[in-house]
Amino acid sequence: ERLTIAMDGPAGSGKSTIAQRLAEKLDYLYLNSGSMYRAMTLLSIREGGDSTNVPMLTKLAKSCRIDFLDNGKTTLLNGEDVSDSLRTPEIDRAIVDIAKTPEVRHEMVKQQRRIGEKGGIIVEGRDVTTVVFPDADLKFYINASVEERAKRRFAEQKTRGIETTLEQVEKEIRDRDQMDESREHSPLRTAEDAIVIDTTSMTINQAVDFVLNRVEV
Ligand code: C5P
Repeated sequence: ERLTIAMDGPAGSGKSTIAQRLAEKLDYLYLNSGSMYRAMTLLSIREGGDSTNVPMLTKLAKSCRIDFLDNGKTTLLNGEDVSDSLRTPEIDRAIVDIAKTPEVRHEMVKQQRRIGEKGGIIVEGRDVTTVVFPDADLKFYINASVEERAKRRFAEQKTRGIETTLEQVEKEIRDRDQMDESREHSPLRTAEDAIVIDTTSMTINQAVDFVLNRVEV
């Protein structure tokens, strides 16, 4: 049976890494829903950047096509490879306005359901266990302490050559949490039937094994 596995959690919790590893091990499709919101944000910046213009955003969301190749490593926006342009401070700043627009969410959710309709998929994000795939076969909520998440993000940004400090990254994570905790901005909630995992003192391998055990029981 090809399952639908959904995973939510805050920034830096480890969910992307866990979800990717799991998808490789199970030979499932991997869908990073955050990449969709990022691609949509890039599109709106290119179109002039008025992220409060809801009719424009709605039009863009309805007409854009976001595809994933190479099991999520490549993101195509209307056929163009934008993978290397999605994780920038500019997009991090602008994404809030995009992600809080209900009309945009509606379209993104539609695209995510289309990609996942056949099952055999691991999808991760903020609302995939509650809104996108409320009937998923397995749901996980991945969490970790703010300090640990900041450390991970800092290390990740360093390897990508981004100049920053741990203090700065921690501040950004705290700001993002604050937004993610206000319902007005973010859909992040813990589904009642989600398995909650705190990865603060786990290695990636331990976290992957933990999740894998739940999948295989
Ligand atoms: O997962 P990632 O950090 O790339 O997500 C970036 C942003 O996209 C999140 O902070 C959130 O605002 C938005 N997002 C969302 N719903 C999702 C996934 C991401 O609103 N399912």
